[in-house]
Amino acid sequence: MPCHLENAPTIIAAIERVIGIKPGQTTPDGQFSFELTNCIGVCDQAPAMLVGDVLYGNLTPEKITDVLNSYR
Ligand code: FES
Repeated sequence: MPCHLENAPTIIAAIERVIGIKPGQTTPDGQFSFELTNCIGVCDQAPAMLVGDVLYGNLTPEKITDVLNSYR
């Protein structure tokens, strides 16, 4: 809920735009799989995501772009 209240739909749209897939899909090169999940336990940093084991919080569309592009 905290992530949802902190504009999760905008964050989801940003992820879709940057890596070109929707939740439940994997990029053709296998680099990214995009999965939605319930709370990951860092509601004080909502909206948040994990890339592998690395936590990213207080996300914005701009931060999403920087984070995901850093993995390319
Ligand atoms: S709801 Fe997103 S970290 Fe808790």
